[in-house]
Amino acid sequence: AKTQYHDFVIQATPVKRLCKTHNTITVNGMYPGPTLEVNNGDTLVINVVNRARYNATIHWHGVRQVRTGWADGPEFVTQCPIRPGGSYTYRFTIQGQEGTLWWHAHSSWLRATVYGALIIHPKEGDSYPFPKPKREIPLLLGEWWDANPIDVVRQATRTGAAPNISDAYTINGQPGDLYSCSSRDTIIVPVGSGETNLLRVVNSGLNQELFFSVANHKLTVVGADASYVKPFITTVLMLGPGQTTDVLITADQPPARYYIAARAYASAQGAPFDNTTTTAILEYKSAPCPAIGVLVKAVMPILPEFNDTATAAAFTKSFRSPRKVLVPIEIDENLFFTVGLGLNNCPTGSSSANCQGPNGTRFTASMNNESFVLPSTFSLLQAHHQGIPGVFTTDFPATPPVKFDYTGNVSRSLWQPVPGTKVYKLKYGAKVQLVLQGTSIFTAENHPIHLHGYDFYIIAEGFGNFDPEKDSEKFNLVDPPLRNTASVPVGGWSVIRFIADNPGVWLMHCHLDVHITWGLAMAFLVENGVGELETLEPPPEDLPLC
Ligand code: C2O
Repeated sequence: AKTQYHDFVIQATPVKRLCKTHNTITVNGMYPGPTLEVNNGDTLVINVVNRARYNATIHWHGVRQVRTGWADGPEFVTQCPIRPGGSYTYRFTIQGQEGTLWWHAHSSWLRATVYGALIIHPKEGDSYPFPKPKREIPLLLGEWWDANPIDVVRQATRTGAAPNISDAYTINGQPGDLYSCSSRDTIIVPVGSGETNLLRVVNSGLNQELFFSVANHKLTVVGADASYVKPFITTVLMLGPGQTTDVLITADQPPARYYIAARAYASAQGAPFDNTTTTAILEYKSAPCPAIGVLVKAVMPILPEFNDTATAAAFTKSFRSPRKVLVPIEIDENLFFTVGLGLNNCPTGSSSANCQGPNGTRFTASMNNESFVLPSTFSLLQAHHQGIPGVFTTDFPATPPVKFDYTGNVSRSLWQPVPGTKVYKLKYGAKVQLVLQGTSIFTAENHPIHLHGYDFYIIAEGFGNFDPEKDSEKFNLVDPPLRNTASVPVGGWSVIRFIADNPGVWLMHCHLDVHITWGLAMAFLVENGVGELETLEPPPEDLPLC
């Protein structure tokens, strides 16, 4: 295994999209940022220098960070932000993961433009569990705002209203030729007839789940979230922000141009979204050249309707591990967390300018009615490691404070989560089952729930209220998929299991950034085990403090 050294300079860079140039926060002047390519087992040492005027951190999304929680990156959780002018070196080893992950800023909404792919090849000398593809092509799906994304979220936080939606979806930073001023820069993926390539698809979008398809071509899914899966064939993918999917695609169609396209999956009733399709072009090298002055249109795939929940759920249910896996069976911690929105009444006397959510409320969100608030004086991990009191409490509830019909007509009195900084403590090695139950408070919505520091098995998912008796019969304890982000179905639930064998403080949150902004997050505090290999490493000397 090797050690790779990289420099990431976070800086403002002029970027032209949708006919206008914006001073955009990037890494090394690139949007999207640089692709990191490593082998399983390699160590990465990345020196991040912050030359922007915002606080920043980088999170290595999906990297297990075994005992290296200080390198995980979420601000105020595992480190304080890197201040403008400051720097921090992230150091971690890839252990046992292969496939596609990505990295992104984990501070306010900076990740809108600060993100890139992290590709993990097999251990040196090992091969893929599928025929070696001719080429590997990362396709990062994203969102672009004409406004500065930090201003968009600040405005929403000030008013209590929903933030503006993005102005374009993008593939590798480009909206594609269905958007104005974008056709010249549309991403072209050249392929040779007959060859099989690997597309590494990442949803790095901020707030939008996306359907993805390639016209006239079948996609064979072989991996997700840097774990291999039992191959299956599909024509459409659905990815929530945070999720990755690796697909093989064979160029077996008549030589021509075919659109690679992504469009919104808008699961929430009435939620605003951009109806435009972002496109790239799969271009056969032997495609006939158009006559001069003739515009050749690419073939457009049929994408599901924006509210096609059945297709989304059928897709997420198709995942299996390639073979029998060791799912934790005897459970030590049986947890049940509701995930969903809320609406907080404005305190009496507050100005209506701050209460522009529905009916003069403010939007909020919660797990088990707890709306997560980041600390500001110490990171949670530092406070835990050094025993600093008063930064967080350990009374995050194992179950909701009251039971109700989660996906029915929820009474208004249950709509007001309580803000706080609470963690749930887990003993080292605890076998955890967690039911993630979506609610229909204000509106039901698909929630991509991401856990830091772990992969977990998704052993079941379904619609309606989770029923412990009936639904446990459907648990897949044989070959469930291993993921780091679960798409909890709209008006439904997912059940995940993992072993708490990575000491530290690990954020779990909805990867729709607007939902984190509203508090749809919590953290697990996993205690140290006994031996050195079960203990969090000491913090690096340059760890940014608050
Ligand atoms: Cu992809 Cu908490 O992050």
